[in-house]
Amino acid sequence: MRIAVVGSGYVGLVAGACFADMGHQVILVDNDGQKLAALKSGDVPIHEKFLPELLERHRGHALTFSDNLEEAVRSSNAVFVAVGTPPTEQGEADLSYVESVARGISGAINGYKVVVEKSTVPVYTSDWVRKIILRNGAAADSFDVASNPEFLREGTAVTDFLYPDRIVLGADTDRCAAVLKEIYAPLTDGSYYHRATAIPGPDRAQVPPPLIVTSAKSAELIKHASNAFLATKISFINAVASICESVGANVQQVCQGIGADSRIGPRFLNPGIGYGGSCFPKDLMAFRSVARECGYDFRLLDEVMHINEDQRQRFLRKVRSALWTLRGKHLGVLGLAFKGGTDDIRESPAILLVQALVQEGCEITAYDPAAIERAREVLPKQVKFAANAYDAASGADALLILTEWDEFSALDLPRLAQLLKYPIVIDGRNLYDPEGMAAHGITYYSVGRIPVTPEKPPADAGIPARKFTSS
Ligand code: UGA
Repeated sequence: MRIAVVGSGYVGLVAGACFADMGHQVILVDNDGQKLAALKSGDVPIHEKFLPELLERHRGHALTFSDNLEEAVRSSNAVFVAVGTPPTEQGEADLSYVESVARGISGAINGYKVVVEKSTVPVYTSDWVRKIILRNGAAADSFDVASNPEFLREGTAVTDFLYPDRIVLGADTDRCAAVLKEIYAPLTDGSYYHRATAIPGPDRAQVPPPLIVTSAKSAELIKHASNAFLATKISFINAVASICESVGANVQQVCQGIGADSRIGPRFLNPGIGYGGSCFPKDLMAFRSVARECGYDFRLLDEVMHINEDQRQRFLRKVRSALWTLRGKHLGVLGLAFKGGTDDIRESPAILLVQALVQEGCEITAYDPAAIERAREVLPKQVKFAANAYDAASGADALLILTEWDEFSALDLPRLAQLLKYPIVIDGRNLYDPEGMAAHGITYYSVGRIPVTPEKPPADAGIPARKFTSS
C-alpha cells in the first residue's frame, strides 16, 4: 500500500517507520523544513529503541520525507493524520492543525482515499474532518474518514506498534475497513513476524494481534477511555499507597494481592510520584471537556487528576520528613524524564519536583541517562548535572529517585552508601526492597511502604524522621 503520514512527531515518525517495515511505501509529511532536513540526513530526533535501525533500513527507499502534502495525498491510498493536538487554556484539544491538514487533503483527492485519524482526538473529530474535506470541494464518495487510535508507549514505541495488544479500526464503511485491514494484514496474518528482519517482540506479545473493527466514533472513544482508565488505575493505586503509609502496610503486597485477580491484572499498578508525559495529563483534561460538552459531568476524572497532583505534594512532604529543613540541603536526583526509557520531559513529575525543591532552597545535582539536554532547557540555572548516578549522589545529603530507569534499580549500594554524605535514599518509584537497603546501611523512604533505617546506622548517618527497623 502507498501511505502518507502527516506529522513527524512521536506517533507519526514511529508509525511511518513501522509501516515501511511492514512492507508499505510511506511518505512522511511535515511542514517543518528543519525537521525534514534532519530526518533526511539521518538524524533520529527521539530516543526510542529500534527506531534508528528502522530509519536506517528504510530511509530514502520505503520511507521518504516531504513537505508537500498535496503531492503525498495524490500518490497514496491512505493518509494518516498524526499532527499535534495540544491542549488549549481550557484543557480542550486544539484541533486547528487537524483542520488545516483536512483542508490540504481535500484539494488533492484524485481517487478513493482513506483519511485516518492517528492523533488522539475527541469523539466527533472524524465527522468534522469529513465536513471540512467536503466543504473544500471533495466529492462525497471519493474518500472516507476513519479512526485508527495508536496505543504505543514512549520508550517501547516500536515494539508496541508492531506487537500491539489489539488493532482498533474505526471505519464506517466496508470499503474503508478493507483498506485499513490490508494495511495491517502483515501483522494480523502473522507474516511480518516470520520475516528474518522482523523487529523482535516482547515476551508477552500476542501474535498475531486481534483486530477490532468499530465505528469511527467508538474508536475515538476507545482511545480517550483507554488512557483515562490507565490513569485512573495509577491514581487509584497511589491513593491506596497513601493509606498503606498511614497504617504501616506494604503497597507492593497489596498490589500483588489485587493484581492477581485476573479481572484487575497486575500492570499499571505501580505507585509513584504520579503520572506525567505528553499523553495522560493532556488526554484526561480533553476527555473531561468532551464529556462536559456532551452533557456528562465526568467528576471521576477530576479526582484522578487531583490525586495525581497530590502525589507530588506527598513526595515533597516525604523529603521534608526525611531531612527536616530543606534550605541549603544538597540533593542528588536520579531521573528527569517522565518515565524510564525516554528522553521526554513533557509534564514530567521529576522536573516539577526538582523545580519545587529548588524553590525551597535545595541544591540539586541531577542525572538522567537520556533527558539531561532537554531538562537543561527548562530547569533553573543553578541545577547541576552529573555524568552518572554515583556522581549525582556524591556528597549529597540524600539521593532522590524520580524516574524508573532500569539502571537505577541496579546501583552498587555499598558504593552509593559510601558516596552519600548521609546514606538516605528517597525513592519515588519503589525500585528497591526496603530490607535490602537497610542491610546496606541505607535509610530508605519509598511510596506506600514504611521507611526503614539500618539497625546500626553508620556513625555519621543522618537522623531519620521515624525509627523503624525492617520487618
Ligand atoms: C500512554 C499509554 O500507556 C499508551 O497506551 C498511549 O498510547 C500513550 O499514552 C498515548 O496516548 O500516546 P506513555 O505516555 O508513553 O503512554 O507512558 P506510560 O507508560 O503510559 O506512562 C505514563 C506515566 O504514568 C509515566 O509518568 C509513568 O511513570 C506513570 N506510571 C505508569 C505510573 O506511575 N505507574 C504505572 O504503573 C504506570
